[in-house]
Amino acid sequence: MNFKGFHTVSVRDFCREDIEHILDLADGMVPIARGEKSSNLMKGKLMATLFFEPSTRTRLSFESAMLRMGGNVLGFADPSGTSAKKGETLADTIRMASAYSDVIVLRHPQEGAARLASKFSDVPIINGGDGAGQHPTQTLLDLLTIRKETGKIDGRKITLVGDLKYGRTVHSLTYALAMFDVELTFVAPPTLQMPSEVMELAKQMGAKTRKANTIEEAVEDADVIYVTRIQKERFPDPAEYQKVADIYQITPELLERAKNTAIVMHPLPRVKEILPEVDNTRYAAYFKQAFYGVPTRMALLGLVTGVLE
Ligand code: NCD
Repeated sequence: MNFKGFHTVSVRDFCREDIEHILDLADGMVPIARGEKSSNLMKGKLMATLFFEPSTRTRLSFESAMLRMGGNVLGFADPSGTSAKKGETLADTIRMASAYSDVIVLRHPQEGAARLASKFSDVPIINGGDGAGQHPTQTLLDLLTIRKETGKIDGRKITLVGDLKYGRTVHSLTYALAMFDVELTFVAPPTLQMPSEVMELAKQMGAKTRKANTIEEAVEDADVIYVTRIQKERFPDPAEYQKVADIYQITPELLERAKNTAIVMHPLPRVKEILPEVDNTRYAAYFKQAFYGVPTRMALLGLVTGVLE
């Protein structure tokens, strides 16, 4: 497809070939992302980051990507210092940012915010997470991580653990993985299961899915163990959060049951769901995964601004 001007709202807007093209370009960007090679690809271009929700990796890796390609950035990390505080609508904020920049990265607590923004923007919108909805660029970097750290995506057995209800990264990832030939295993407490619309669509797309009852069972033949944080901020009732807060924990002992070649991924931030003792084991891939956000976002920024094809 022609990516120039494309709004990245959901991974479902891409087909498998589009995703593979982005991953191929991202792979080539790794030396620039590491600072080993310089680039002026985005010289003269401006990226606006509008973050209505907290973020560390998503915002910083987008900024790192843009700056390392010779572009510039503007934006905010906290809406309390903006006119949103005075009651300005998202539509108006987007109209303004679109007049001041060449591409907009938006993170917002409301599901559907990025789709709405795309209606009011003259420049490409990139969804940096919309509530419990989607997080397409996280998915692209997750796929790059699987490809680089396990060698391929097709044929892999992938276990998704934790908050599958409110975790937007696992919603996007499930849709994307359904385009590949993978086996998906879901492990979540009864109150935090994968939404039925995500399950149904993944099945319609041909995904092989199953639910596991215990984490022990789910790690046993997995190639990828994708762990998520319980999304405390999205629980309507704090008492409900307390019931599931520490339900799963990845420990070195648990990983003794896993294949030697298995990798543990996490979109981060982690709270207690992966013990620090796992960080120095061969399984830990989550910090590399966070790095892959930079080359992946470089590729996407280049494509949607028309600098790359
Ligand atoms: C995730 C998010 O914001 O959805 N973080 C990220 O972007 N890497 C996951 C989370 O907050 O748990």
